[in-house]
Amino acid sequence: MNAEKYLARLKWFSILIFSLLLIVLGFTTKLILPSIQASFSPSFIRVSFVVSLAIVTTLSFNLLFVFINNIYLKMKHFEEELEETNILMKKMTDESERKNELLSHRNEELSNLHKIIREMTQTMDLTKILDVILESICKYLMYDRAIICLVDDEKRVLKPIHSLGVDEDSLSRMTIPMTDKTNPIVQSMLEKKPRILKWSQEYAHPTNNNETNELLHKPVIAVIPLEARGKIIGVLIVDNTKSKKILEERNLRELLVFTNQAGLAIENARLYETEKQFKEQLQEQVNLAVKKLEETQAQLIQSEKLSALGEMAAVVSHEVRNPLSTIRGSAELIDETIPADSINKKYSNFILQEVDRLNRIVTDILSFSQVPRLILKKININEIIDQLCTFLQASDFVKYEIKYHGDLDKNLPLVNVDVEQIKQVVLNIIQNACHFMSNQKLRQLEVKTYSDGNNVYLKISDTGAGIPPENINKIFDPFFSTRAKGTGLGLAISQNIIRAHKGLITAESQMNVGSSFTIKIPIEN
Ligand SMILES: Nc1ncnc2c1ncn2[C@@H]1O[C@H](COP(=O)(O)OP(=O)(O)OP(=O)(O)O)[C@@H](O)[C@H]1O
Ligand SMILES: [Mg+2]
Repeated sequence: MNAEKYLARLKWFSILIFSLLLIVLGFTTKLILPSIQASFSPSFIRVSFVVSLAIVTTLSFNLLFVFINNIYLKMKHFEEELEETNILMKKMTDESERKNELLSHRNEELSNLHKIIREMTQTMDLTKILDVILESICKYLMYDRAIICLVDDEKRVLKPIHSLGVDEDSLSRMTIPMTDKTNPIVQSMLEKKPRILKWSQEYAHPTNNNETNELLHKPVIAVIPLEARGKIIGVLIVDNTKSKKILEERNLRELLVFTNQAGLAIENARLYETEKQFKEQLQEQVNLAVKKLEETQAQLIQSEKLSALGEMAAVVSHEVRNPLSTIRGSAELIDETIPADSINKKYSNFILQEVDRLNRIVTDILSFSQVPRLILKKININEIIDQLCTFLQASDFVKYEIKYHGDLDKNLPLVNVDVEQIKQVVLNIIQNACHFMSNQKLRQLEVKTYSDGNNVYLKISDTGAGIPPENINKIFDPFFSTRAKGTGLGLAISQNIIRAHKGLITAESQMNVGSSFTIKIPIEN
């Protein structure tokens, strides 16, 4: 209920009380009136009554209204005070709401910062860290664009390495020399102080390239040095070109908290990467050394085998060859005395054939145990192939019913080789191919020559039985043979000859499909 209504009720209540008083007075007067009437005249009594009634009424009303007025004033004052208190309360509520909002904003910032730092420290991959930093700056801290530049210690320049919202192409050409002390970005770094840069003509320094000047031409940019373990490693540059939001000191403080962590994360990732690279390089070197060691070991074993074989060959040549020539001479003499139609002729021929075979083995062992002496001649390898295949087409290819196909490079460069020894290598490989194709339905032999500019290649492919995978690494070993009458020296001798030419011989094979042997001879050997 408001004060006016309350007062109106109070007024009517007072009038009621007063009327009651009058009635009481009337009754009282009636009771005492006979005694008064006895002392005073009736007209005097009437006048006195009216006068006293008027006085009492006036006084009563005055008193009542003074009282009521006081109450009214007090209530009004009270109401005003209440209103003031209300306004104050509202102000206080507004203030606390504003503080609450600020607090929750700060809380959000802190939790964002926490999130970013956690994401940054969860990886050691530099690109991922840079991604997290830039995305966080634009997403949580609400900047339009951000660039991270790192110092290239060797070239003494500051180079952008990652950015968000900026044209990568123009950035790739932006470099800031660290020696340019007039450049505000360099100044900010050297002073280790973040700065808000406004465009000014002085920043368009001649040492800046167009991209740097263009960057500085933005309304406002913030430059925050990136520090790690007391050393400046680069800068973070942010701007609000699109939203046109003004950058303030407050922003710098916020960014500084962020860059303290970012700098450390970047440096850690770089150290990790360097260490990883170093480890990889070391591992590569170790692998290379192990491979070399294995090769040297293999060569050592081979040379030991060779020297043992050399000694054996010398003994064999002395102890076997001489008796063999005696046996052959005697066998020839006996053979001449045996008539052509005699049954013994067959046996004398056997002796001669086997003596020849033994002689061939001894020659093979001797040639394998000696380092091949080369008589070099500049020649086109195609010529050797042509000569050999013309001969084979009249002999082995007919005998084994082999289809020959030559794919010879017409522009093959000349190479320095020992023609006879290369012929022997090709013949060894082709004879093996003929032998291992003899039981196959498809009997095709292809000889291909080509060059890569530095080497000449000769590839001989057959459609033979193939080499089992477990044997492929043994076929060049001396005396390894799967043929009943093979000595296992053909490929070992061939490898020796190719190595003497500083070349390489390799084999590939697939069971029941075929095998191919590739010979590589350097052009400048
Ligand atoms: N074209 C081929 N197809 C399948 N196996 C092959 C082929 N060429 C070589 N080999 C395998 O390699 C082994 C070694 O060959 P290599 O020419 O050194 O000796 P060989 O032919 O057995 O005897 P020889 O000393 O009389 O030539 C062969 O016994 C065979 O197992
Ligand atoms: Mg052979």
